[in-house]
Amino acid sequence: MIVLGIETSCDETAASIIKGERGKIKILSHIIASQIKTHSLYGGVVPEVAARQHVLNIVPVIDVALRQAKIKPAKIDVISVTRGPGLITSLRVGTQAAKTLAYLWDKKLVGLNHMEGHIYANWYNNPQIKFPVLCLVVSGGHTELILMKKHNNYKLIGRTRDDAAGEAFDKVAKLLSLGYPGGPKVQAMAEKGNPTAFDFPRPMINYKNFDFSFSGLKTSVLYLLKKEFNNKKAPVADICASFQQAVTDVLISKTLAAAKTFRVKNVLLAGGVAANGPLREKLGEEIKNNLPGVGYYFPPLKLCTDNAAMIAIAGYFQAQKKNFTTWKKLEPDPNWELI
Ligand code: KG4
Ligand code: ZN
Repeated sequence: MIVLGIETSCDETAASIIKGERGKIKILSHIIASQIKTHSLYGGVVPEVAARQHVLNIVPVIDVALRQAKIKPAKIDVISVTRGPGLITSLRVGTQAAKTLAYLWDKKLVGLNHMEGHIYANWYNNPQIKFPVLCLVVSGGHTELILMKKHNNYKLIGRTRDDAAGEAFDKVAKLLSLGYPGGPKVQAMAEKGNPTAFDFPRPMINYKNFDFSFSGLKTSVLYLLKKEFNNKKAPVADICASFQQAVTDVLISKTLAAAKTFRVKNVLLAGGVAANGPLREKLGEEIKNNLPGVGYYFPPLKLCTDNAAMIAIAGYFQAQKKNFTTWKKLEPDPNWELI
């Protein structure tokens, strides 16, 4: 089955062609027109600007995805597009493009949940994933522990009560004037710093549930900067390393506890923060050392942050079950929660 994936939920215009065969996925093209440079001028995504960029980029991006994959429209079986959650004006560009092409080319449509796309990036190269699965979903808007007993079946085990992990990275980067998006900048700075230099709180780490909270951690960084350094000459690398250590400690501790409680066979990682090197390394190590018999799979880096291959992969699994969306029902839903 050949799937065209389209993703425009936030600030990346992306299209990808994948081929799925008996659960095995081949990525034939993977195109992303990034708007990071445009939005970094403002320190974050400006929805109106993002929508205009999507309008300019969507047709060329899909065109390049088709050419690079050497696929003619007639060969496409399904068009899978992000229907939500995200910015309404951004989502509208992708869904409208998908509807138009589906109408012109007479194709089946899947209106996909963006977070389902992030989760299914794990199935790239990993058809052997075994249920029950626990997935730690960590992006700019979400921090959740999700239990899956079978494909496309989700149970929410825990979630953040305030800021998402990615949001905390972005806010701390802003406090330290590191730029946007914050996660990669904080990670790069942290490499030069001492993770035990500052003892930031590990919010809710000892609570007997699987919820998270990250807004207090960000506030601790703010107070440290104001009180101890009066915003001058702060040891940025040490702050980044200590902050990153605190976030990863909490994420890993809760994930391990949930994996034990729900006796899962595999642990997965999803969302932009899944690109974080220390999180990937330590989570893998901890699972190996503490959860005998439990396997773990992480998406390759290029499939962690927003992209269209993950939307195509998840669309492929939906299409196999014939879970198609009608042309009329393919409307963007900015607040669509997976669970
Ligand atoms: O999944 P994503 O690309 O977009 C959303 O669906 O939200 O996630 C973006 C988030 C941002 O908050 C960004 O700072 C974070 O992922 N991120 C990272 C890293 N790369 C991206 N956080 C920590 N370390 C990274 N290397
Ligand atoms: Zn995302």
